[in-house]
Amino acid sequence: MTSQDPVSRRRTFAIISHPDAGKTTLTEKLLLFGGAIQLAGEVRAKANRRQTRSDWMGIERERGISVVTSVMTFEYGDCVYNLLDTPGHEDFSEDTYRTLTAVDSAIMVIDAAKGIEARTRKLFEVCRLRDIPILTFINKLDRETRDPFDLLDEIEKTLALDVAPLTWPLGSGRSFAGTYDLEHDLVRRIDRDSEPTKVSGPDDPFIKSLLSEADFRDTRDQIELARGGLKTFDKQSFLEGHLTPVFFGSALRNFGVRDLIDALARFAPPPQGLEAASRKVDAREDKMSGFVFKIQANMDPNHRDRIAFMRVCSGKLRRGMKAKLVRTGKNIAINSPQFFFAQDRQLAEEAYAGDVVGIPNHGTLRIGDTLTEGEDLVFRGVPSFAPELLRRVKIGDAMKAKKLREALGQMAEEGVVQIFLPSDGSNAMVGVVGALQLDVLAERLAAEYGLEVSFETSRFETCRWITAKDAELDRFMRAHPSSMAADLDGAPVFLAASAWDLKYEQDKWPEVTFSDIKDYQKAA
Ligand code: G4P
Repeated sequence: MTSQDPVSRRRTFAIISHPDAGKTTLTEKLLLFGGAIQLAGEVRAKANRRQTRSDWMGIERERGISVVTSVMTFEYGDCVYNLLDTPGHEDFSEDTYRTLTAVDSAIMVIDAAKGIEARTRKLFEVCRLRDIPILTFINKLDRETRDPFDLLDEIEKTLALDVAPLTWPLGSGRSFAGTYDLEHDLVRRIDRDSEPTKVSGPDDPFIKSLLSEADFRDTRDQIELARGGLKTFDKQSFLEGHLTPVFFGSALRNFGVRDLIDALARFAPPPQGLEAASRKVDAREDKMSGFVFKIQANMDPNHRDRIAFMRVCSGKLRRGMKAKLVRTGKNIAINSPQFFFAQDRQLAEEAYAGDVVGIPNHGTLRIGDTLTEGEDLVFRGVPSFAPELLRRVKIGDAMKAKKLREALGQMAEEGVVQIFLPSDGSNAMVGVVGALQLDVLAERLAAEYGLEVSFETSRFETCRWITAKDAELDRFMRAHPSSMAADLDGAPVFLAASAWDLKYEQDKWPEVTFSDIKDYQKAA
């Protein structure tokens, strides 16, 4: 790695965890390392920050939203780190999937007393879809924990992922004294993380001096067992997503965080090539390309301002450049791309592969959009998933039906929900992955459009995008006049009353493809 090469220096990653495992705390501590924030607590305390940096910040504060935490950029050592925030609420949303399409690696935080929890597992499965390399941080070692072997075994079994501990805890809970660096025979003490002590091995008298006699013996045996019985770190296997290096620590005590940040620099991949529909795009190509994975609205409710978060995939983005929006074929000027720091934002004069820039716009950019310097590239990997819940949107005042359609269209473009317009002209349907999305939709329709809506179940439970040769597609659509709808892009969608119904139609119409995933741009 050279400090001249901007791509090799980039590390774009996310933190995945179950709520309460310590993601926010770890984020704060990582940002502290980068000097991005002065005081731990800033991330959490953003809602009542004293100073307003700009009008935007004021709006953010007023509305309790956090654009700032969508992406956080900081520098440490030789690297530039882009930490992408996965939404914090418990409900699983499409936003989370999409954010994970824009990272090159992830840190999985596990509560040492709890092990693998439901949401960690789900997020992990999303990472696995793309074989994203995962580093594991076992957190809260300053509290009573489960046995380290138990935890490692659980990761290995439940996630089918090889584990290679690089550090080992010395004691736990009240007697937690620090960690043993298995690679380098170093001891890091909880109160002196930055000054490791070189030791001769796990039975070094220095370690004995830190622990009770019983803890010392246990730990020594464990380390020997770990070294003899567990996998050693293999970078290739990690990069392929088959093995995770494991670190133990306490985010709250800012212990073990340095190991993680160092590991990101040492092993985590810099931006790689990315598959587009037509070819693979290398991060080091000269021409700029990127895709939008998130839209944040509400920047200014009066102007319907939005920020599109774009990951640069290749080349160099320069402020003021013109870029082709491949979906429409039109050029747009990127006049004020933004970088985000923990408590600040700046105009991005230039950005490189792996960087995430916010592009303010009035609705021109949609999730999944590709921007290039002219080539018709379409990046794969910002998909739509068939919703798990379908609801009809009902509005009290029939006069407002048109306004509702427009508003729903905009919400769908932002990726808040998916919209399906039934071909029989009945009320629009919305599709979501988690129920919380419906609450967010209702709140936003009321606040931004003055529309009071309610949701009703319909006879449809699920839906699929359908494709087939023209004539066959026509035949299918004509045969199902009251079960057809169009999505935001006008692509045909079959509404099914049940899984059984869907299966029945699939068997009956073998020439028709029913898909539960749609790439945003394919049908556009
Ligand atoms: P999350 O974003 O993953 O939901 O977790 P968050 O960081 O908010 O942490 C959840 C709780 O766990 C917080 O306590 C936090 O202080 C605590 N925590 C995080 N890391 C550690 C650790 O290494 N050791 C210990 N002992 N606790 C840790 P809280 O009481 O819910 O919030 P707060 O009042 O401390 O802010």
